[in-house]
Amino acid sequence: VSTILEKSRKGELVEGAAVTVHGWVRSVRKQKKIAFAQIMDGSSDQMIQLVFLDPSIALDLKTGVSVRATGKLEVTPTRQDPYEISITDPIEILGDYASPTDLYPLQKKFMTQEYLRREHPALRFRTRVNANVMRLRSVAITALSAYFLQNGFFQTQPPLITSSDCEGAGEVFTVANSSSSSSAGEHFFGQKAYLTVSTQLHLESLMMGLTRVWTLTPAFRAEESMTSRHLSEFWMLEAEVAFTKDLESVMSIVEGMIRSAVTRMKSEGVLDQILSLKRMLEKQKATAKEGEDDEEMVTADEVSERWNTLVATEQPWKRITYEQAISVLQDAVAQGKVEFQHKVEYGESLKSEHEKWLARHYAQGPVFVTNYPANMKPFYMLPGPDGTVECFDLLVPDMGELVGGSLREHDYERLRGAIAASGMDPEPLEWYLELRKWGSVPHGGFGMGFERLICYLGGVYNIREAIAFPRWIDHCAC
Ligand code: 4AD
Ligand code: MG
Repeated sequence: VSTILEKSRKGELVEGAAVTVHGWVRSVRKQKKIAFAQIMDGSSDQMIQLVFLDPSIALDLKTGVSVRATGKLEVTPTRQDPYEISITDPIEILGDYASPTDLYPLQKKFMTQEYLRREHPALRFRTRVNANVMRLRSVAITALSAYFLQNGFFQTQPPLITSSDCEGAGEVFTVANSSSSSSAGEHFFGQKAYLTVSTQLHLESLMMGLTRVWTLTPAFRAEESMTSRHLSEFWMLEAEVAFTKDLESVMSIVEGMIRSAVTRMKSEGVLDQILSLKRMLEKQKATAKEGEDDEEMVTADEVSERWNTLVATEQPWKRITYEQAISVLQDAVAQGKVEFQHKVEYGESLKSEHEKWLARHYAQGPVFVTNYPANMKPFYMLPGPDGTVECFDLLVPDMGELVGGSLREHDYERLRGAIAASGMDPEPLEWYLELRKWGSVPHGGFGMGFERLICYLGGVYNIREAIAFPRWIDHCAC
């Protein structure tokens, strides 16, 4: 018994074929002379309709059970779900409910994602929406990997337990073994240890040997943000390149990576799948009773526009400096085009409302904002003109920051000075400083929030739906 996807790839799903499928029953309709059941096996977004010309075969069928079924295939290519099987043999129930009186929790009625996460975290991937996001994660990793492979990068595996706080923002989780919880992990490693907030420092070390490296790892941040863009455990894609000439050489890698991965996924039909699911959800939402479905949703048209602006080749994505961004924002406010909650002022960080506005209204698409004032950014960034650093954030509409990157300070004395100036303890960074003593080279790199990319491409409104088991403050129940 193979999956639906496998069968369709092998061309086994042709009219009249005798097929066996397995999956989970999504819905059942029983009439006097005929019965129907829809099943899914998760290998694709496709549903298969089972038709029982003898309804007695379908007696034990209920939503939620897992089955193996054999019959004759009928294909109607014009239908949303083109495959139908007329069942000839007795159906095999592989798994039923825990107790005969229980009702499968994911019945037809509308459930919010928040409710699903809280009450049925283990069953989430039986829903079309959540299964689709997990498939999107998987194909996105393949597409991103392909870019790096084609461009001479090595995939590397830096550690997740570390003694340094890469971003110096004090948002690290401490690692402690249970018998030494009071001594915060010092007992086990003989020194303080944390979960990594970014693997950049170790990646720099790998880069100064391999020239071009990348990695996709979990990153952990104890930030108390409860926003739709922040998780305590998320995945970050990071890359580091040696012998860079300027910031532009790093930005063009980011742009090339995203364009190439998105173009590839589009040609594989990934966008079409997302859109067809979105359109179905839009119909459901349109017919929902009041108060029944009030979750925020990104529309199919919005998703389609996002993909199109990412792959459009006519012009490179805009690049502006932080200073220009500030005056663009101030002008927009002065001309009454927009009102912000937070004041726009040189020296203040860009808030998410500012980032979103810049991408949507100034750039009408992705925009790199470069050269932020040094005091807003971590110690490792290479100084640029007028008290700025050679860094960029890539902002995209409706989301804001998707990628952050920079050139790195490669001079030993200046890096030591920057560590001291940022008030960090240099001791845990001595190993890293050694890179600048021996054969240091100009270099740069970036980090992209993988769930933010998934939100953007998948039209996922809240980042908690872009990862299988989201963790955020006060939430780690399973
Ligand atoms: O901008 P950040 O903090 O940059 C770094 O950590 C660098 N050391 C990366 C590097 O240059 N190698 O984080 C990078 C990206 C952000 O742009 C954002 O997309 C994502 O990681 N990110 C988060 N995603 C989800 N939840 C959080 N709490 C995140 N914090 C950052
Ligand atoms: Mg950042």
